[in-house]
Amino acid sequence: MKIFLDTAKVEEIRRASSWGVVDGVTTNPSLLARAGRADVETAIREIASLVQGPISVEVISNTAEGMVEEARRFASWKLNTAVKIPMTEEGLKAVRMLAAEGIKTNVTLVFSVPQALLAAKAGASFVSPFVGRLDDVGQEGMELVRDLARIFTHYGFSTEIIAASIRHPMHVVEAARAGAHIATVPFSVLTRMLQHPLTDVGIQRFLEDWERLQAQVPSAAGAAKV
Ligand code: E4P
Repeated sequence: MKIFLDTAKVEEIRRASSWGVVDGVTTNPSLLARAGRADVETAIREIASLVQGPISVEVISNTAEGMVEEARRFASWKLNTAVKIPMTEEGLKAVRMLAAEGIKTNVTLVFSVPQALLAAKAGASFVSPFVGRLDDVGQEGMELVRDLARIFTHYGFSTEIIAASIRHPMHVVEAARAGAHIATVPFSVLTRMLQHPLTDVGIQRFLEDWERLQAQVPSAAGAAKV
């Protein structure tokens, strides 16, 4: 399973990509606002200098024509972008037109199997089911990912499933078990994925044993001489 970083903060992307685990990045207007990046092109160029994988950039238009125009502008940057399109009727029209032009799309705000099926049929490169937001309203978000993985495999859709709106490390584990192609993960969750208290205890114990051994070495050498 691939891991995308769900952030527009370049420092987070730089740090995580130095670990060799980042296959792509997803942004949205809220994440850009949180990072204070009003100049989207400059932000995406900086991100593209750090990661090879696709970088999702979201349109803000609500008509197919507007979305396509924005998407063409993103494509003109000649970076590895995927255009995030909202799951609406206009969005589907835009996905169909962009697929015909060979522009990658990521259909976002997907909350049901029927929505994802339509997005895949329209030619979406990615669909983003929002697991955490479904959990928030009392539906099992991961059930949607599981259903989509089964259905897309059965029918041979090439659309990749991005488990989005990830809130904690177990969401990532469950997304992998459910058959998501990708999990897009906030930096705080990625950081928690690498931590385990037993790892910290283990390192501490190894260091203490090593220091104890070093303290014994001179006396052991002295004893050998006698
Ligand atoms: C990613 O593509 C989504 O925009 C993001 O995961 C949404 O996460 P949220 O529900 O925490 O805002």
